[in-house]
Amino acid sequence: MSVHSMPVLTEAEVAERVGALMADMTTAEKAGQLTQYFYFDLPPREEGAPEGPGAAFAGQGITVGEALGRGEVGSLLFVTDPAQINRLQRRAIEGNRHGLPVLFGFDVIHGLRTIFPVPIALAASWDPAGVERSQAVAAREARAVGIHWAFAPMVDIARDPRWGRIVEGAGEDPYLGAAVAAAQVRGFQGEGLGAPGRVIAGPKHFAGYGAALGGRDYDEVNLSDSELWNVYLPPFKAAVDAGAGNIMTAYMDLNGVPATGNHWLLAEVLRGTWGFDGFLVSDAQAVHNLRTHGFAADLTEAGARALMAGVDMEMAVGDPAYAHLPEAIKAGLADEEALDACVRRVLTAKIRLGLLDQPYVDEDEAIQVLSDPAHRAAAREAAQRSAVLLRNEGGLLPLASPRSIAVSSIAVVGPLADSRRDTLGPWVFDFDLDETVTVLDGIRDRAGPDVEVGYAPGIRPALRVFPSMFDMFAGNAPAEPEGFDDAAELARAVDLARASDVAVVVLGEWQNMIGEAASRSSLELPGRQLELLQAVAATGTPVVLLVMNGRPLDLRWAAANVPAILDIWYPGTQGGAAVADLLFGDVGPGGKLPFTWPRTVGQVPLVYGHTVSHEPANQGRRYWDEESTPLYPFGYGLSYSRFDYADLTLDRDRLRAGQALTVSVTVTNAGERAADEVAQLYIHQRHGTASRPVRELKGFQRVSLAPGESRTLEFRLGPDELRYWNAAVRDWVIDATTIDVFAGGDSTAELTASFTISR
Ligand code: BGC
Repeated sequence: MSVHSMPVLTEAEVAERVGALMADMTTAEKAGQLTQYFYFDLPPREEGAPEGPGAAFAGQGITVGEALGRGEVGSLLFVTDPAQINRLQRRAIEGNRHGLPVLFGFDVIHGLRTIFPVPIALAASWDPAGVERSQAVAAREARAVGIHWAFAPMVDIARDPRWGRIVEGAGEDPYLGAAVAAAQVRGFQGEGLGAPGRVIAGPKHFAGYGAALGGRDYDEVNLSDSELWNVYLPPFKAAVDAGAGNIMTAYMDLNGVPATGNHWLLAEVLRGTWGFDGFLVSDAQAVHNLRTHGFAADLTEAGARALMAGVDMEMAVGDPAYAHLPEAIKAGLADEEALDACVRRVLTAKIRLGLLDQPYVDEDEAIQVLSDPAHRAAAREAAQRSAVLLRNEGGLLPLASPRSIAVSSIAVVGPLADSRRDTLGPWVFDFDLDETVTVLDGIRDRAGPDVEVGYAPGIRPALRVFPSMFDMFAGNAPAEPEGFDDAAELARAVDLARASDVAVVVLGEWQNMIGEAASRSSLELPGRQLELLQAVAATGTPVVLLVMNGRPLDLRWAAANVPAILDIWYPGTQGGAAVADLLFGDVGPGGKLPFTWPRTVGQVPLVYGHTVSHEPANQGRRYWDEESTPLYPFGYGLSYSRFDYADLTLDRDRLRAGQALTVSVTVTNAGERAADEVAQLYIHQRHGTASRPVRELKGFQRVSLAPGESRTLEFRLGPDELRYWNAAVRDWVIDATTIDVFAGGDSTAELTASFTISR
């Protein structure tokens, strides 16, 4: 039977199948179903060999192979080759009495073979439908190679850009975060588990991981109840409501209790209050590490505590704590019913996916799916829609417009402009570098024979002070160019810029500087990039700065001195082509910032949704040495046109708690080019039983408008938008109050109206 014609089983049929299997399983076999291993086919480390990145995985192939043979594996991660997946699957099935297949999970974060822009970029599109389409492509490719489950989306709110994982999420805002989270879940899962060409979505990391102390990845998190419920949990709630089949726990302590052993968080909130009925997986080695936290005395207790908190599956690098579950149950640390509940959830997922009937993957079909040109077209469109235009003095962009300068020569400058690996961004492993279009390639292709395109890196790539754990993958760290003469190369870049009509300078962070374990203590452009930019700008040739990044960087100098700045993020496989489309105006940028862009690292965390207290008039001067306002506000982004907002109207100006109203606003494209705008709706509660932020996003719509075209957009404000978790009464409330509404193109929107809520 093919996966495509899999019959949908009723709940009772699934339960019956699960029950029949479990009736005959030993405690050890059950524990095996709850164990997930990384699979890297790496040889054991030789005696005395240095401990490089990835040392923890040495010898994995042998260990896991043996565990498969003993039937002690429920799932594997990090395998993407369909032939290897089939081989391992056969080994798994033959290794246990029940012929149970393993689930293959993988970090399908922004594409598998076709790489899409990084998640923060997808969020910057403010286009949930587009985000859903992107992740549907990723799911199709993943499923085709035999992956059943994506460890994505990462829905952690990130308010401190020193934390490198900001690139994996949707930024600082709970409302945008929730919309993007739900869209991704729908993209990965489609109609639900078992839908052809889709995979299980695993939103992560539950919960609060983005608030690591000092932005230091993995460090403890201390969040107030108000922040937790109003800011950090909403994207998870949205993902659960969208039907996510899995959730991954977080590494760190949340308010003094490890998230992975946190009964309140996992059992009471997630399963109890929210009714999550999928399965939970720990983050890598997080169960094991309950010992490291000083929470569990030994591995047996670690496994027992995680299981009793509701962690269904342990993601293990080696030496799983869940292998000790039989012992833990004998010692009375965990009970068999809890174990059974976990096994039931894992087997339910396998059955719903159709895995018991069709465990193998069609290797020929995989080749076809992975090379589908429609996937590349989708990635190009996603990259176009993600870019954010931060500055465009004098209409320098688009290059081929009447307002721009005449361009017959372009200098492309900066090592990132010509780096395939960096164009893709972090958290990708199965990409094809050969098909990756860099910014330089894209500009060369688009510029055509009449425009001369020159290239000079100007400087060598910057390096991390401490290597990345991902540098275990070949080509992850930038290669040191051989025989690079710093002074001569800088001079060459300057000469090229001087001799060209326009200089396109690509700066940012190398992709191994962002992502997991990529925290920074500064937001400056790494290496000699600012010096390069200043030297190029000093030639007088107009500069377009393209920023390749996953976090805000210190762009104070550029924002004051460079006429055009376009944030292209890490744009993916088709990135350079999309960037060229934007530069030449074949399409226009319409993305908006999903985070507040600080001026300097000393301001972080800096968010638009803050409360006000003493001396609000000095809000922008809290520091004596720098403004405390952002460089660019949340929701900000320009286009090649301009938009006016008018006629903000409410269909009623009084309501009772529990009722809803409709807000409408008319957006007009007041410029000369067709363009996209993201209309945003914010609220502010004037008074109430707790303090509320000065602004809160409560609605947005991305629209495409022809020159002169107007559209009236409607937004609904109902109980979901008006309630908040109140730390004074420790409950959700809708206050009797006055609410100000603001509509416009970013979080500083001025067009306003108000309404009252009574009890
Ligand atoms: C990360 C997870 C990821 C897992 C498997 C962990 O280190 O925190 O986000 O899914 O590794 O690769």
